[in-house]
Amino acid sequence: MTEKTSETEDSVAFDVEGGIAWVRFNRPAKRNSMSPTLNRRMMQVLDELEFRDDVCVLVLSGEGAAWSAGMDLKEYFRETEANGLGAVRRAQSEAYGWWRRLRWYRVPTIAMVNGWCFGGGYGPLFACDLAFAADEAQFALSEINWGILPGGGATKVVVELLSMRDAMYHALTGELIDGRKAAAWKLVNESVPLSGLKARVTEVAEVLLKKNPVALKATKDAIRRVAEMTYDNAEDYLVRAQEAANSFDNEGRKEGIRQFIDEKSYKPGLGAYDKAR
Ligand code: ACO
Repeated sequence: MTEKTSETEDSVAFDVEGGIAWVRFNRPAKRNSMSPTLNRRMMQVLDELEFRDDVCVLVLSGEGAAWSAGMDLKEYFRETEANGLGAVRRAQSEAYGWWRRLRWYRVPTIAMVNGWCFGGGYGPLFACDLAFAADEAQFALSEINWGILPGGGATKVVVELLSMRDAMYHALTGELIDGRKAAAWKLVNESVPLSGLKARVTEVAEVLLKKNPVALKATKDAIRRVAEMTYDNAEDYLVRAQEAANSFDNEGRKEGIRQFIDEKSYKPGLGAYDKAR
């Protein structure tokens, strides 16, 4: 788990170290806007990392001044539109495809929003289970500024995460909000000064690294799934999800009970059991 591997290939860069995959949008000269090439490459990277034993948490950030300036207006919109509806649909499918892959990723995911985050960037932002922003980061649904509605899920993202009034204001005005306001609006979990952002994200990732990985995956899926269920359906789903997790990882929770009740070596109310034993 301590082995370090790195790769930089065109539009996506990544390192794996200490159980954490640090994946970065890597088109800083284009403010990490998402071109079809970037979207294809990101799916390959997610594919390669998802089932590696040395990847237990994934962090998505951006090289340079941006997290992501949204879709590439030239390569994603203008050039694909020039090639007809088939090309448009293909580009959409490639973008939405990796966001969906990320929403249901095997390991917990954290958006580390280091700078600009616009429009289409809200797709991967929402896809990440947790999000931490720099105070200095700037967010906007800028679609309205160039004459479209916030598509590609962006409208759904703000309606899911923000109050109706804030979502409406954000989408209609296209105004920027900084990381602090994004945290106050619950678009992200927290914001901290950029100088401390990586340290804070590392701290949170290290908390997750200590948890039972089967329970993490079951929990993150449950949080997303039950959001659209009635109470009774959720109750039923959670019984079945726990039973499925038990059959996948029979020993983990028993060991958790044993270390608390018999060994008295930890308290579940205060931290995780030692999964190395
Ligand atoms: N699409 C295509 N190219 C982009 C994008 C984008 N979304 N964002 C930046 N670029 C390119 C610029 O065209 C420029 O290219 P060039 O060097 O070849 O001229 C380069 O990146 C640098 O951009 P600047 O505008 O010079 O950088 P600056 O730091 O001054 O401004 C900012 C940064 C505010 C992010 C600005 O680039 C911008 O407004 N980008 C567009 C943001 C946006 O509205 N995105 C679309 C959201 S809607 C959606 O995603 C569906």
